[in-house]
Amino acid sequence: MGLRGTVRVPGDKSMTHRAFLMGGIAEGTTVISNALLGADCLASLAAVEALGAHVQQTEQEIRITGTTALKAATIDCGNSGTTIRLLSGILAGSQETYTLTGDESLQRRPMDRVTVPLATLGADIEGTYAPLTIHGQPLVGTTYTLPVASAQVKSAVLLAGLFATGETTVVEPILSRDHTERMLPKFGTDLTIQEQEQGRKIRLQGPVRLQATEIDIPGDPSSAAFWWAAAILGADSRITTEHVLMNPTRTGFLQVLRQMGASVEITNRRETAGEETADVTLMTTSLQAVAIEGEQIPSLIDEIPLLALLATQAEGRTVIRDAAELRVKETDRIETVVSTLRKIGAQIEATEDGMIIDGPTPLVGATVDSAGDHRLAMMLTIAATLQPEIEVLGNEVVEVSYPTFYDDLKTLQQTNP
Ligand code: S3P
Repeated sequence: MGLRGTVRVPGDKSMTHRAFLMGGIAEGTTVISNALLGADCLASLAAVEALGAHVQQTEQEIRITGTTALKAATIDCGNSGTTIRLLSGILAGSQETYTLTGDESLQRRPMDRVTVPLATLGADIEGTYAPLTIHGQPLVGTTYTLPVASAQVKSAVLLAGLFATGETTVVEPILSRDHTERMLPKFGTDLTIQEQEQGRKIRLQGPVRLQATEIDIPGDPSSAAFWWAAAILGADSRITTEHVLMNPTRTGFLQVLRQMGASVEITNRRETAGEETADVTLMTTSLQAVAIEGEQIPSLIDEIPLLALLATQAEGRTVIRDAAELRVKETDRIETVVSTLRKIGAQIEATEDGMIIDGPTPLVGATVDSAGDHRLAMMLTIAATLQPEIEVLGNEVVEVSYPTFYDDLKTLQQTNP
């Protein structure tokens, strides 16, 4: 049965985290609408509340009155890498001692990628895996060149720079999502951004206090991606996702869909919170294999589980490389994607930094487990819309980034052409 209809996916996860965390340290009351209230972002909201910000939640909006007198606290970041890494930057230059921890998956993810650069500003952080203990210290700005394309690391350093004396500079050889750079000016902070041969250079002068603002969060392209894939793979399907963030650092997946032969209809382009948004429609298409590599990877990193599923139905050999970062996501997504897709009939091999998929192969029934990884649970559920004999265990984990995923799926299954 095909999927047809229109969905408005929840607010963007990366932007919601940043709006909550920046609102938490801004002077005045920040008003945020269309925030994502998934478990990850709620961890950021609870964190700023524990640190002394005042949070008011209504059905329409979240109002955060920020503070810089951040109280000593032990904070559970749950499953959220963005919360722990961005918060480490914020707390490094504060006055108290803080402990940041998280669930089993988060405790296995590397934190030295933020503790090492923060130490160059003078931070005193114990631990290379969560729990981290941060002894707030006076910081001095420095220049840091990112060794991996990571928006979380870039953001941690820039946020620490708000509390540091002098200039903090981040050099980014490969562009990663740029929501922090776009949102800081909304909170009244001037950044200087220069494009250079060695990459993008982002500079800010500290110390500086953020000023409260209003932010309307557009739909998350990484959530809409599930419906785009479902529309392409389903028989007689057509799905429109409304008001989706079209930031070029996030739309690599749409470019690859075009390369694979899909026709991507983009309508109703407009601007929200300094970001472009649009309605995006995809429909049933037969796909060609493609190579996905290099500088493309950061712009579609969270969509690689879905790309692997699409590749199982594409004609030819799809090769994904330069994506070793997948090994340090909520799960080792090279291993979990390969092992689950293989169980449901895919011809797929893991490589050190990616995977190789030969298609098309018919999907077969099997019981597969999300391994506690939200994006894996949703990708496997899309596979189950094609092969109803696929059973997905552990799918409650969609709560992390898309709590209404199964409601939206039901609506699309029930919508008549
Ligand atoms: C995110 C950055 C990316 C992404 C994650 C969210 C962010 O991680 O995979 O889901 O909001 O900054 P890295 O910074 O580790 O690349």
